[in-house]
Amino acid sequence: MTATKTVALITGANKGIGFEIARQLGKKGFLVVLGARETTKGKAAVAKLCAEGIDAHFVKLEVSSKTDVEALPGFFREKFGRLDVLVNNAGVAEWTHDDLDTFRRTFEANVFGVVAVTYALLPLLTASPAGRIVNHSSALGSLTSITSAPEEFGDFVNPAYTTSKAALNGFTVALAHKLRETNVKVNSAHPGWVKTDLGGDAAPMEVVDGAKSAVTLATLPANGPTGGFFHMGERLPW
Ligand SMILES: NC(=O)c1ccc[n+]([C@@H]2O[C@H](COP(=O)([O-])OP(=O)(O)OC[C@H]3O[C@@H](n4cnc5c(N)ncnc54)[C@H](OP(=O)(O)O)[C@@H]3O)[C@@H](O)[C@H]2O)c1
Repeated sequence: MTATKTVALITGANKGIGFEIARQLGKKGFLVVLGARETTKGKAAVAKLCAEGIDAHFVKLEVSSKTDVEALPGFFREKFGRLDVLVNNAGVAEWTHDDLDTFRRTFEANVFGVVAVTYALLPLLTASPAGRIVNHSSALGSLTSITSAPEEFGDFVNPAYTTSKAALNGFTVALAHKLRETNVKVNSAHPGWVKTDLGGDAAPMEVVDGAKSAVTLATLPANGPTGGFFHMGERLPW
């Protein structure tokens, strides 16, 4: 069966900004698939969105699990016959650590997980008439921003997190270049500093606004940009 609606996968969507991105895309009429590494939490999140009238579905997805990632293309082909939008949102930050193990864990989720999920789903995304890939990055991954205004970022400039998001931005640029002759657009989004488990209580932005940058990039028109880095429609420096 092929779904008539545009189908979007959001990784790490059981809570935080990912959940809100799923809600906002669902409200726009997308069929949304919430990826979550814990089945109970993922299904509870899906149930909340379904109760709001959103066409929401669950897929178990630990982005560093080879088994979970390899099952993805078959899941989308069999259940929906298509995938149009991939929001690589799942991410981790260990603010107070930067030892080698922290680097490995951070890169596993924020970089290698994104690459694995994206490459597994690329055949489906390139088959879509308007494939969109959004990599949820951070202004902390902008080397220009953290060196030109270090006081704005303070102790949040954590080596493991910053280099993981800078690497993710590099992936955005290189993948957009590789896909430049296709219908797929690839962009990085900075959500802002958002009140979530990762962002903490001191963050000034609510999740409803934190989701907007990614939602805009997930719904770009055919003449929209590719290979860029954006916050609320404004282009950010690398
Ligand atoms: N909040 C901010 O201020 C801020 C600022 C800039 C960028 N960002 C980025 O925005 C994205 C979302 O952050 P958030 O603030 O919403 O964080 P959050 O509330 O902590 O949510 C993170 C989500 O990612 C999932 N996740 C983490 N590692 C995973 C893995 N290996 N496989 C699958 N899922 C995994 C988590 O699952 P569990 O619930 O199972 O842990 C959770 O669903 C992240 O990429 C983050 O770096 C956030």
